[in-house]
Amino acid sequence: MTWTTEKRYRRYEDWTQEELKQIKENIAQSPWRASYHVEPKTGLLNDPNGFSYFNGKWVVFYQNFPFGAAHGLKSWVQLESDDLVHFEETGLRLLPDTQLDSHGAYSGSAMQFGDELFLFYTGNHRDENWQRHPYQIGALINQAGEVKKLDKVLIDQPQEATDHFRDPQIFNYQGQFYAIVGGQNLDKKGYVKLYRALDNDYTNWQAVGDLDFANDQTAYMMECPNLVFINEQPVLLYCPQGLDKEVLAYDNIYPNTYKIGQSFDTKTGRMVNPSPIQNLDYGFECYATQAFNAPDGRALAVSWLGLPDVAYPSDAFDHQGVFSLVKELSIKDGKLYQYPVPAIKNLRSQEFDLTDRPQTNNSYELELDLAADSQLELVLFADQAGAGLKLTVDLKAGNIQLDRSQAGQAFDLEHGTIRTAQLANEATNLSIFIDKSVFEIFINKGEKVFSGRVFPREDQTGILIKQGAVQGKYYELDYGRKAN
Ligand code: FRU
Repeated sequence: MTWTTEKRYRRYEDWTQEELKQIKENIAQSPWRASYHVEPKTGLLNDPNGFSYFNGKWVVFYQNFPFGAAHGLKSWVQLESDDLVHFEETGLRLLPDTQLDSHGAYSGSAMQFGDELFLFYTGNHRDENWQRHPYQIGALINQAGEVKKLDKVLIDQPQEATDHFRDPQIFNYQGQFYAIVGGQNLDKKGYVKLYRALDNDYTNWQAVGDLDFANDQTAYMMECPNLVFINEQPVLLYCPQGLDKEVLAYDNIYPNTYKIGQSFDTKTGRMVNPSPIQNLDYGFECYATQAFNAPDGRALAVSWLGLPDVAYPSDAFDHQGVFSLVKELSIKDGKLYQYPVPAIKNLRSQEFDLTDRPQTNNSYELELDLAADSQLELVLFADQAGAGLKLTVDLKAGNIQLDRSQAGQAFDLEHGTIRTAQLANEATNLSIFIDKSVFEIFINKGEKVFSGRVFPREDQTGILIKQGAVQGKYYELDYGRKAN
């Protein structure tokens, strides 16, 4: 299937029921649908949007193109959850159906005001010359899921920005509402712009200036910036496209990174003493992570386990992209930790010692403990010959390596099949979540994370300990009814 521009931007109402039926039938044939990760009902899922707490429920939306595995005309699809683990899809919410968002209801954030949820997002509009006009716009959604779009632009494209200006995040800092927007300036450098809500009115934004986070000025665009606070320390999570690899080594087409500041100076919009830039994830795909401070103060995050401009084997089955598990963020010894929320344990249905369980249904969790000085070679999604996703840990040498070259259908070879990270030579814990075609590996309860996708063959369902002594538990995971 070739995705021409015309096809990507075909109006939603022009797709027929018959076409949608065919897409659904094709998806039903896919061997790679996840069992406990959020994925799109149909088509492509990309960024998490509007992650929030609304009237006693957790809410998150996904960017969706429903008609196939392509980046076409985007909308927001709503999910709700009681426990941040089980998500139920409750409807298509922001459609690209006005002049301001005619070419896509692009990414943004959400916050409850009164008994409505305010959605702050980017309306992507293209004029008759296909010139892009990014509008930061809003909508209110009530408890019944009814959407009322605000009929005005809340933040205009600033003079110093190109048409790459998007992804507003609203946040509350010490009782004042702020927003940050990612952009590209006229020198084609990525930057983040900070606004404050006058009189705390979310329809009235005044520019404070560029967010000062010691931007190294090598990226050409900052997508999806988020500022959260952990014990008063600001943490900026963002996607600096084109970041110089001398500034930070990374292998994926686009990195997802963070910086931790000591404090936040609201007058000047400065993160005081920002840390060096760090990778949020060491795996093959993790992008557009959205984080927010929940009403209880916790910083929660969810990522898109996918990347722009990458083709996936599941495309042939008309689906692409999944969400990560919801991760709680914390800071320990100046480092950011990310670990699934405690309710994830409720998925555990049966427990075995790891050696008892060579064959699986590829829907499980492993908890492994390694002693200092040890080595481990573990193959997940292993076939009879031991080929699969190979995890090698060498604590003496101080590194961990993940190789997906033998794990089913190859893809994105351009960016390599191996990912590595450094580890200290000390007792090390690994929490590994496997879900059909998804893996998330948390080292030392979230000190480092490797996330990504593999597209295994049908016979790749084993776990093989090729080398090393490991103490471990295997938990079969049972989600119950899958909502989508
Ligand atoms: C990041 C992104 C955002 C944009 C959205 C469109 O993946 O490019 O910057 O708002 O996706 O779907």
